[in-house]
Amino acid sequence: MRILSGIQPSGVLHIGNYFGMMRPAIALQAEGEALYFIANYHALTSLRDPLALRENSRRVALDFLACGLDPAKAALFLQSDVPQVTELAWILSTVAPMGLLERMHSYKDKVARGLPASVGLFSYPILMAADILIYDSDVVPVGRDQKQHVEVTRDLAIKINEVYGDILKLPEPRIHAQTQTVPGLDGQKMSKSYGNTIDIFAEEKEMRKRVMSIVTDSTPVEAPKDPAATPIVELYSLVSTPEEAAALRAAFAQGGTGYGDYKKQLFGKLWDFFGPMRRRREEILAQPDYIDEVLAKGAAKANAIAGVVMARVRGAVGL
Ligand code: ADP
Ligand code: TRP
Repeated sequence: MRILSGIQPSGVLHIGNYFGMMRPAIALQAEGEALYFIANYHALTSLRDPLALRENSRRVALDFLACGLDPAKAALFLQSDVPQVTELAWILSTVAPMGLLERMHSYKDKVARGLPASVGLFSYPILMAADILIYDSDVVPVGRDQKQHVEVTRDLAIKINEVYGDILKLPEPRIHAQTQTVPGLDGQKMSKSYGNTIDIFAEEKEMRKRVMSIVTDSTPVEAPKDPAATPIVELYSLVSTPEEAAALRAAFAQGGTGYGDYKKQLFGKLWDFFGPMRRRREEILAQPDYIDEVLAKGAAKANAIAGVVMARVRGAVGL
């Protein structure tokens, strides 16, 4: 089984990215041949600062490794180290119906949030389809918001196969069963574009400050509290045992404790949960060449696979 996923280096990684995408991807590395990449071509649709793009890309690699990506099991590489993916994207674009892309909610959402309405942003799902199809991927672990993109990938592969014969493999999305959408500080989806994130590797003071700023209602200290009214319980459940989460729910139902105390408990759990990963991150930072070596090895592996698939595609379409 070949597993593929990507993440954009368009900002600092937050716990929504961790639970929604990174953790499931890391768990899957033991189950098959995993390929994980940093989607720097995609990030060009929103980030036009070359220095920031380069730095973020390295940082995502570092953070992914710190969170448990094992380069002996999974290849980690930069999307742009496999430039053939843009060639496949072009070929896919020649069969992609306009109407299919016009239905994508991510384009509309991003333009509504102020991203430039470029052709690249519009055809973003085609490049993503190429990312997946160029490695004959079987399984694509992503957060729920990316499911539509994996479905488009299947549609495009079916179209190519109808026209040119059976040349592309159909992938399956893998949405981690326990992780729905991780809520942000304000209860909306946690997202860097909403400014409501808790970053995985934030400094202690900053992480505490973020947790303490979780939006709550004005229920008095002594009154019972609705666990669904704030994101506290949901976030706590991600970083504690089921028994601890049940105890917190019971405490909410009982009343007598203020939101501030619950937030402190949540901070403590979060800080401890990511502790081993923070330590691993320091170890990696102490080895200056480590990240480059991992990325180079990953790129070599990815190129070998992509080369075979592209030769097949070029042959089939008549190039
Ligand atoms: P952001 O919304 O912060 O820009 P991205 O769109 O770059 O995050 O998402 C990167 C990956 O992390 C995707 O696979 C996405 O599904 C996952 N992800 C992002 N935010 C969340 C969230 N709040 N809950 C679950 N998964 C998420
Ligand atoms: N679009 C994904 C995101 O924003 C990143 C991505 C690009 C991706 N190509 C991919 C994810 C291929 C999975 C497979 O999070």
